Amino acid sequence: MAFIMDGRRLAEEIKARVKEDVERLNEFGIDVGLGLLLVGESAASLQYYNATLRACKKVGITAYQFRLSENSSINEILNVVHDINRDERINGLLVLFPLPKKINARRVVNEIVPEKDIDGLGSISVGRLAADESTFQIFKEGYYEVLNECKFMPSVSSFLPCTPFGVIRLLEYYNIDIKGKHAVVVGKSLAVGKPLSLMLLAKEATVTVCHKSTHDLAHFTRQADIICSATGVRGLIKGDMVKEGAVVVDIGINVLEDGSIVGDVDFESVKEKASYITPVPGGVGPVTIAMLLENTVRSAQRTEFLKSPFMLE
Ligand SMILES: NC(=O)c1ccc[n+]([C@@H]2O[C@H](COP(=O)([O-])OP(=O)(O)OC[C@H]3O[C@@H](n4cnc5c(N)ncnc54)[C@H](OP(=O)(O)O)[C@@H]3O)[C@@H](O)[C@H]2O)c1
Repeated sequence: MAFIMDGRRLAEEIKARVKEDVERLNEFGIDVGLGLLLVGESAASLQYYNATLRACKKVGITAYQFRLSENSSINEILNVVHDINRDERINGLLVLFPLPKKINARRVVNEIVPEKDIDGLGSISVGRLAADESTFQIFKEGYYEVLNECKFMPSVSSFLPCTPFGVIRLLEYYNIDIKGKHAVVVGKSLAVGKPLSLMLLAKEATVTVCHKSTHDLAHFTRQADIICSATGVRGLIKGDMVKEGAVVVDIGINVLEDGSIVGDVDFESVKEKASYITPVPGGVGPVTIAMLLENTVRSAQRTEFLKSPFMLE
């Protein structure tokens, strides 16, 4: 019977630290701001949007809301991104996905300046992660180590995508060894599967990435010490696909007709085989939002550090 990893508990601890850091900046007269850009009215996006607003309020981050209609043109959206890039009050920008079909989402995220790309999805952030220039953040907690590290870094590293960053934090919180383990990541999206596989690789796991065209998914998952599933396919990972004692992280979110939420993992059968498992809800989801807030305050600290290096010593 698996131990259930409590994402809410970890998220509360991260948020408590973020709140302290926000208050510290406030003492210097610095406000921390997060921009939220929502185009259209997708129910799932609205849920995430509102949850982020509530979380910002809790930790003292000022949320700047930008809501555009479903019919907005790419130019209108880019103008808002440009305004946010220039806005001194805003330290990070979260663009809610999916954007309307006619909008080229890559064009939008690539327009966010890397210093404010707190979800790490722009090409520069993705490249820095792949080049191992940002991964030092998954080896250390605490902003001050990061800031100290920045003093010696010729280039400024980018922020890590919040969901996979949160998965790594969750594994570390429960002292789960990653080094040398076989991690199977199911899903290869730019937001979750791909960056998570890079982070696990940086932590020296042996990584297998599976996707829709993978033949015989169970053949791979049965070999895994750690399974991370991010597909949005309800019940994809079943008990007979999991090795005895494996760690199972369920990133998927599927909203059922009655409004309830389930993940990719068939919780009941998998919990009998796994050693650790994340629930949905209450697993990776809350940690994602906490990491978004952490990246935002880190952005504010870094900006201030670069402008007045001795102030935050
Ligand atoms: N908990 C959180 O905080 C959080 C954050 C973000 C996303 N999510 C959830 O995580 C899930 C994935 O999100 P995403 O943005 O990565 O979605 P996505 O862009 O739709 O990517 C889904 C990935 O799953 C793969 N896939 C789909 N069906 C599969 C199957 N039957 N077998 C193996 N692989 C399959 C796809 O493969 P191909 O590439 O071959 O098409 C793709 O790589 C969603 O449910 C989303 O709501 C949760």
